Amino acid sequence: MAEEFIVATGDKCAKYELLYRQVEALTEGEGDTIANMANVAAMIDATFHFWWTGFYRVVGKELVLGPFQGPVACSRIAYGRGVCGTAWREGRTIVVEDVDKFEGHIACSSASRSEIVVPIIKEGAVVAVLDIDSEHLAMFDNMDREWLERIVALL
Ligand code: SME
Repeated sequence: MAEEFIVATGDKCAKYELLYRQVEALTEGEGDTIANMANVAAMIDATFHFWWTGFYRVVGKELVLGPFQGPVACSRIAYGRGVCGTAWREGRTIVVEDVDKFEGHIACSSASRSEIVVPIIKEGAVVAVLDIDSEHLAMFDNMDREWLERIVALL
């Protein structure tokens, strides 16, 4: 991993390209998943300044909070609950344009308006999710989905 993280400028795609390359460099040299999650959350936050960026890990029948950047969040989420638990159950990325319209959304922060949750899948099973919240409606689209899926595949 380069000692210094370069914060990308330019459009969203350019930012994701540089972010991806730096996550790739970081994960190549580090085998500890928690350490990598911590740095990936920091790198995404430094690049995009979303409201909340972090990981929940599958521990038994729950998701347990992992490394994150942003305000204090719920420690545990049950299987199938909220956007995170739904992404876990369905094994697919969920993009929520308006959290008020997602039945069962768990409001860790009342400021959150839209959200994307990307599962991390190993050998066919979800082992963690990347959760990103925005204080703006409809912040996330297919470009976010595609790049974030590529980024978490590096973990
Ligand atoms: N909103 C999430 C809960 C986690 S926090 O947003 C950090 C959900 O509905 O699963």
